[in-house]
Amino acid sequence: MSKPTTIQAAARVTSSAIVPATATDTLLVGLDWGTNLSSLHAARGTSTELLVQEQIPTIVGYAQENILDGVLPGDARVLFGKQAQKHRQHMRLVRPLQGGVIADREAAKEFARHLRTRLPDNAGEIRAVIGMPASSDLAARENARAAVQGVFQKVIFVPEPFLAALGYRDDDRLNDSEYQDPVLNSLYVDIGAGSTDVCIVQGRYPTVDDQLSAPFAGDAVDQIILDAAQIAYPDAGLTLAKVREVKEKYSCVMGDEGQQPAIATVMVGGKPMKIDLTAQIAAGCAALLQKTFEMTSELVGRADPDSVSELLQNVIVTGGGSLIRGFGVALQTKLLEEGFENPRVRVLGQGYKEYVARGALKTARQAQDRHWQNILG
Ligand SMILES: Nc1ncnc2c1ncn2[C@@H]1O[C@H](COP(=O)(O)OP(=O)(O)OP(=O)(O)O)[C@@H](O)[C@H]1O
Ligand SMILES: [Mg+2]
Repeated sequence: MSKPTTIQAAARVTSSAIVPATATDTLLVGLDWGTNLSSLHAARGTSTELLVQEQIPTIVGYAQENILDGVLPGDARVLFGKQAQKHRQHMRLVRPLQGGVIADREAAKEFARHLRTRLPDNAGEIRAVIGMPASSDLAARENARAAVQGVFQKVIFVPEPFLAALGYRDDDRLNDSEYQDPVLNSLYVDIGAGSTDVCIVQGRYPTVDDQLSAPFAGDAVDQIILDAAQIAYPDAGLTLAKVREVKEKYSCVMGDEGQQPAIATVMVGGKPMKIDLTAQIAAGCAALLQKTFEMTSELVGRADPDSVSELLQNVIVTGGGSLIRGFGVALQTKLLEEGFENPRVRVLGQGYKEYVARGALKTARQAQDRHWQNILG
């Protein structure tokens, strides 16, 4: 057997009771660096009190050239997150990540520096556990390491589904009589902006065989809706941003009986016009459900036959795509119809974004000195 990697070694400490060697003045950070939205948690080494708990849209805005003084706050050259979105008219917006990994290194560095400004000034050493898509390779980790150089002094990269399971662990224990520890045996379905990732978590770090990833998620749904809407309403001047806004309000996979009419107001020649996007949104959401179902069935098919009945009891859907109305029930129904025995699908809901960061902070608290990778510079 090959020697365990630092990451694998760190995975084991999360389930044991080893006392970590973290100093009191060290700042521990849990980071879910999402394509769409990032979640940042931070606490002092030995404290349980959260000093930082913040969600920041993963967007960097660069001021347009020739912009007049006083237009952007503080005449900033670069803005981030909500501020960048707010001033989008005067900025070139860049998403540093695509499909969960860094796509624009400069913007990623800027974004990491921005994260530092959200942490306390007198932080001392900063150690961060950072979630990575389960499918990410060495190059993706190298890019992430380079981006956070000078921001964090030590890091551990951990697959996101594992962190989500760890963050979610114990949450339902009290109000769920059939509670099963998600870290021990669960199937995670994470529907993000850039990718859908399905991953089996069985008490150890997921390997390549434990997961499937496809570049088909919220962004692809937006494109499907936009393409269909442009055929129906060629003059409406629809944009991806507008489509996404309407989708997030009316997304649904419940068929005709559950679907509310999705009426959007667009401006045509300066005048408001109402258009009906119900059918286009339903088609986009149905395509995502079908893709997710296919990936889930394929992965369940790969699971160890001894663990599969318990695994099917712990199918957990997370990510922004999981907020589509009726998604959990529809996925469960499809799995049942496919012949899987008694599947149970749960949806993490609005708070989904916190679980990865929370799991990352738990890992940071429990990691030992030797698990951390130094970042020089
Ligand atoms: N209510 C909703 N209905 C449908 N889709 C939604 C809803 N809310 C958010 N989304 C979609 O979820 C996606 C964002 O999900 P999430 O925040 O999990 O992405 P991410 O973690 O940043 O991306 P990735 O995991 O690909 O790196 C976007 O495409 C967004 O439009
Ligand atoms: Mg994500």
